[in-house]
Amino acid sequence: MSNSTSTTPDSTTIVEIRDLAHGGEGVGKAADGDDARVWFVEGALPGERVRVGLTGEHKRWLRGHVVELLERSALRVEPPCPVADRCGGCTWQHVDPAAQAQLKADIVANQLRRIDLPTPVAVPSPLALGYRRRARLHYRVEGRTLELGFFGQRSHQLVDADHCPVLDPALDWAMQQLRGWASWLPATGSVHGLSNGVEVVLGLPGVRPHPELEVAIRELIASSSASEAGPTLVGVQLRGGREHVGVGRTSLELDGDGPIPPVTQGPFTFSQAQARQNAALVEHVVAMAQPAERRVLELHAGVGNFSRALARSAKRVWTIDGDREAVANLQRTAERWGLPINVKRGQAEKLLGKLAAGGRTYEVVVCDPPRAGIGVQAAKDLIAVASDRIVYVSCDPATLARDLAAMVGPGSPFEVVDLRVFDMMPMTAEVEVVVTLKRRGRGSGAA
Ligand SMILES: C[S@@+](CC[C@H](N)C(=O)[O-])C[C@H]1O[C@@H](n2cnc3c(N)ncnc32)[C@H](O)[C@@H]1O
Repeated sequence: MSNSTSTTPDSTTIVEIRDLAHGGEGVGKAADGDDARVWFVEGALPGERVRVGLTGEHKRWLRGHVVELLERSALRVEPPCPVADRCGGCTWQHVDPAAQAQLKADIVANQLRRIDLPTPVAVPSPLALGYRRRARLHYRVEGRTLELGFFGQRSHQLVDADHCPVLDPALDWAMQQLRGWASWLPATGSVHGLSNGVEVVLGLPGVRPHPELEVAIRELIASSSASEAGPTLVGVQLRGGREHVGVGRTSLELDGDGPIPPVTQGPFTFSQAQARQNAALVEHVVAMAQPAERRVLELHAGVGNFSRALARSAKRVWTIDGDREAVANLQRTAERWGLPINVKRGQAEKLLGKLAAGGRTYEVVVCDPPRAGIGVQAAKDLIAVASDRIVYVSCDPATLARDLAAMVGPGSPFEVVDLRVFDMMPMTAEVEVVVTLKRRGRGSGAA
């Protein structure tokens, strides 16, 4: 907290919520009008009047949470999860699932308003619960008891939960098996899990191999694979310092149901959170990129979620990612399926800068950076390197707005031809935005 003013709001403050902030909190002003500062209120929705509890204060804003609901939004529902009021895993359990995609599109539109872009098309999630195939939970061991769950909202307080309704049921089951291994785990730690709907791999950072732990893991692998119904634990990666030991099989094949080859990955590399919505995202990125018979540069390629689909028709795809394991997995996928992909490990912004300085061009550039975005210099380099299309996939509308401002300002050779928000993680305020830019004067429209 900093810069407090003469007014000290307390839990008697009533706030009228008008909008949603980019983190999903309600945005509003105090109803009595005495304090002109903006409130960011966790758990509040536009149109609501709420009594708030103050959690943070700044000279221009105040932060709080709902203490009492005085007027409720029609979009408010009963949270399906019993620990929704405490758990930080989801902050939108109280929002009607049918409305979440459009609310996210509105949040992105607010962020992009300063560069004069229209409200994005909202792509709702096909599933509201049971969708999440990759997650990291935290644990704490006391004696032989292990508590397991996400941290609380804006805290590092563990919220123990014996079931998480947003997790894919196979992943939910596998995570809970950790409770049986309490004797061999450190006092605190985290578990990474990845599921393909039937098979699950787990990753335990900071856990050194222990003969009894390995026996317990192998027994669970054997018993779960022997049972015909239900999920199977196929392996666990133990990462104690530099020691990396795999018990069982520690990678899975994902997203190989259709004509596109699967990716291969373990529990520690990035994957989009939801299989079904990811299939729609990949289809859209390929449709926007128009890679047929073209040279494609793909930054932040990860294990090749977009690469393997782009490479089905592209002349060649050059990929860059900074993660050693993801790069090795993509290399294996390319070799196994004979895909025209050149895989490189490195810092995308740096390598892009070199390509731009060397005058190299690609007809299509796809990027999918982490929350930090690519930054203004790399955004300018993208414009220099792409000769026709850029598809920018973003999970942070604020850094996206900053980067886009450097790409589509007055006099820019590029224009935005398609803007879409995929609801990849319902029950959270997370967004997945896809912006397609096209060089002006090369035919119009997204198709
Ligand atoms: C949001 S993930 C996207 C991965 C992939 N496109 C997908 O859909 O699964 C971001 C990826 O960027 C990589 N990454 C993060 N910072 C990077 C950087 N500065 N240079 C290159 N890769 C980076 C991460 O390793 C990760 O694979």
